Amino acid sequence: MKSFFNVQDIGDLDKALAEAREVKANPFAWKHLGENKTIILVFFNSSLRTRLSSQKAALNLGLDPIVLNVNGDSWKLETRMGVVMDSDKSEHLREAIPVIGSYCDLIGVRSFAGLTDREYDYAETVLKQFVEYSGKPVISLESATVHPCQAFADLITIDQYKTVKRPKVVLTWAPHPKALPQAVPNSFAQWMNAADVDFVITHPHGYELDPAFAGDAKVEYDQMKALEGADFVYAKNWSCPGVTDPSKYGQILSQDMGWTIDEAHMAVTNNAYFMHCLPVRRNMIVSDGVIDSERSIVIPEAANRVVSAQVVMKRMLESLK
Ligand code: CP
Repeated sequence: MKSFFNVQDIGDLDKALAEAREVKANPFAWKHLGENKTIILVFFNSSLRTRLSSQKAALNLGLDPIVLNVNGDSWKLETRMGVVMDSDKSEHLREAIPVIGSYCDLIGVRSFAGLTDREYDYAETVLKQFVEYSGKPVISLESATVHPCQAFADLITIDQYKTVKRPKVVLTWAPHPKALPQAVPNSFAQWMNAADVDFVITHPHGYELDPAFAGDAKVEYDQMKALEGADFVYAKNWSCPGVTDPSKYGQILSQDMGWTIDEAHMAVTNNAYFMHCLPVRRNMIVSDGVIDSERSIVIPEAANRVVSAQVVMKRMLESLK
């Protein structure tokens, strides 16, 4: 595996899930793979789960993880080509990336969407520079448009908890006080479209996900109708993807608290499990009662982030040989 951005990069999902179960059952069985090898985890943005689960996955594989907090403990990096570097950014990615690549065997990158320039974000400008200039396998640790380690962990979690062969999975938009990227819902939609699930997306008008990710998924604008009979409810906020109106890209179009997942919403489901990638705003995205209930699986979902990251790093190490 040379890079990990999209569901296609993992190949057959049944095989990937079987491998995830093996890794989970015996996490230290491949410790030899990472011996004398290093992964550099580059963070342009904050993280709790991705930072820790990636390091834990690396350690399980015998890899030495090094974390670089760009804008914190490195030079601030310029990401755009052709600019006069007269701002506070002291170094360009064009030099920084090959230097980072010369110190490691694998690279992980977290670089969120700026949410001001749709073309720049959806071109995955930063991530593609890492691929082009590092010469090393690159993992998206949430880039401008995708969060594949999260989506893979979400699929592992659904596989772990499902009680029917083809569960109904509902991705629902929920309100949030800040404008958030579309990476999590984009990847979740992409992975659910590829998985053996009955997938429905629900959101207010204007929040349509990019067709490259939403694919042929059913979109139901009536949230309660979408939730009827659901086996899994995946709540997430995202800002306007700019599909129907590019001028509104990155904006908050609704703060309708009627979309907050509470007990009344869960009551119409098939006793669904509640999922969220975390961090979550309580009583904005989800009520205390729902997230604290026995049907909330947000903690095992986060724990599976180690498993998804480990499968990806394992495959990359195997392909280095
Ligand atoms: N879900 C997730 O990516 O969490 P962090 O932002 O804390 O890494």
